[in-house]
Amino acid sequence: MNSVKRCCIMNRTVLQTILVRQFQTSTRRLVELTSVRYPNVKRGQYGIVQNSDIATFERLLPGRVLTDSLEGYNTDWLKTCRGASQVVLRPKSTEEVSGILKYCNEKKLAVVPQGGNTGLVGGSVPVFDEIVISTQLMNKIISLDEISGTLVCQAGCVLASIEDYLSNYKLTIPIDLGAKGSCHIGGNVATNAGGVRLLRYGSLHGNVLGLEAVLADGEVMDCLSTLRKDNTGYDLKQLFIGSEGTLGIITAVSLNCPQKPQTVSVAFLGCQSFQTVLDVFKESRHRLGEVLSAFEFMDSQSMTLVKENLKLASPIEDFPYYVLIETSGSNGSHDEEKLNDFLEHVMGSGLVEDGTVATELTKIQHIWSMRERLAEGLLHDGYCYKYDVSLPLSSFYGLVEAMRERLGAMVTRVVGYGHVGDGNLHLNLTSPEYSTEVMDKIEPFLYDWVAERKGSISAEHGLGFKKREFIYHSKSKSAVVLMKQIKKTFDPNMILNPYKVLPDF
Ligand code: FAD
Ligand code: MLT
Ligand code: ZN
Repeated sequence: MNSVKRCCIMNRTVLQTILVRQFQTSTRRLVELTSVRYPNVKRGQYGIVQNSDIATFERLLPGRVLTDSLEGYNTDWLKTCRGASQVVLRPKSTEEVSGILKYCNEKKLAVVPQGGNTGLVGGSVPVFDEIVISTQLMNKIISLDEISGTLVCQAGCVLASIEDYLSNYKLTIPIDLGAKGSCHIGGNVATNAGGVRLLRYGSLHGNVLGLEAVLADGEVMDCLSTLRKDNTGYDLKQLFIGSEGTLGIITAVSLNCPQKPQTVSVAFLGCQSFQTVLDVFKESRHRLGEVLSAFEFMDSQSMTLVKENLKLASPIEDFPYYVLIETSGSNGSHDEEKLNDFLEHVMGSGLVEDGTVATELTKIQHIWSMRERLAEGLLHDGYCYKYDVSLPLSSFYGLVEAMRERLGAMVTRVVGYGHVGDGNLHLNLTSPEYSTEVMDKIEPFLYDWVAERKGSISAEHGLGFKKREFIYHSKSKSAVVLMKQIKKTFDPNMILNPYKVLPDF
């Protein structure tokens, strides 16, 4: 074990921006149209975009209506869904979004809101010919209160850019994920994204102080409060957090931003069993307490993928399971003392046999890359069947084993990793190309398995297009009836992101 040293917190922004972009531009194969792959989904009774509509959009958004080279907007990050939209609109202001939606609602033209298009459930791209409304140009910081740490910004701000901006004021953003170089804060809020800092700061339901959204008829819902406390009536913003573009287009958000930690350390440890991973987690909560900022896990198949597909070397010898522990705080010697105490305990008691602690920027980046680039590495195999579930920790890894046994040689690999500190497992299976035979073997078996153990079929990625039919595995019939009533109230013509989140009405 290397000696534990403090190092200044560094920002992984630049590296991640390059990685996500490089990957996006290097995979240009044409994906099967969603309408072909999923023939049971029927186009709704929506209008078809006419030249006169394009002319209206051009008047509303001069020079910001795209009708050519739309492949990137039509295809999802996983390369599993492809729509056939003929038009992409790029508003710059709330007023422009309002004008677009008012017109589309009157003409019954369906739309799909799109941020960074890094969503993993087919929610951010059209299923048929829905108009894409991109927040790419809505990227302004509106205000920052340095004392309270309250940031207000437009929905299209890229997560990494917000973090860079905040670091000038010794603040940070309470959410961090591998797609931070591309995803937008509006997309994060719309998906209620979790990520690697949820363990420390909690979910967006607690960190979003307010938001502004444009409703289907163009009405602007102003709930852009910057108050920490506000108990006046129903908390409508909560409905939009995780609504995946089906209730309105989020145009601005107000966020509670914590102080940027002064010091950070990362430990990468090998474990012989999954039970040991859980024991190490328990010890980390007990001994690291308030300085624990991330607890991630990956299995040996994930490590094989890291080596084979990403060409990254492991800093420690081979183990069946690995954990990544990050500590961060404001007092280096205090944090160091706590980490040392924790490491001495887990090594001394035999829970952990080998591990390493990051002492410099490049090593911290390397360790985080192994974990955060897994999603990218999986795509090198061809097609990725991606699952993101919540499970009680007692049955957490059992799902990976069950799927490995069930699929056997039908798939290239079955890997398990995730935010074990939040009870969130990422289970991924790969094959050279999409196979209905493999899919039928996975679904609904996997969802039944999760529901039997009272888990959730979507911990953080959402339901989008691909998982909406399985909502009943995690929500009661009466809850779904109420959701449909809410949808109808907000969007009577059902123009906002149709075929997503809820099963057909
Ligand atoms: P998009 O993909 O563009 O859209 C996602 C959904 O939100 C769609 O339904 C879309 O219609 C809707 N939407 C987007 N913008 C708006 C808006 N302004 N108003 C209303 N609706 C809108 N997720 C996690 O939770 N945790 C992770 O750790 C994590 N890691 C990831 C790592 C990688 C490499 C990748 C590719 C994805 C990861 N994700 C993760 C998935 C995650 O959902 C997205 O990265 C992110 O939250 C989506 O933001 P986006 O701007 O790309 O949204
Ligand atoms: C992650 O935690 O890496 C993301 O949620 C993406 C994934 O599930 O692969
Ligand atoms: Zn995740």
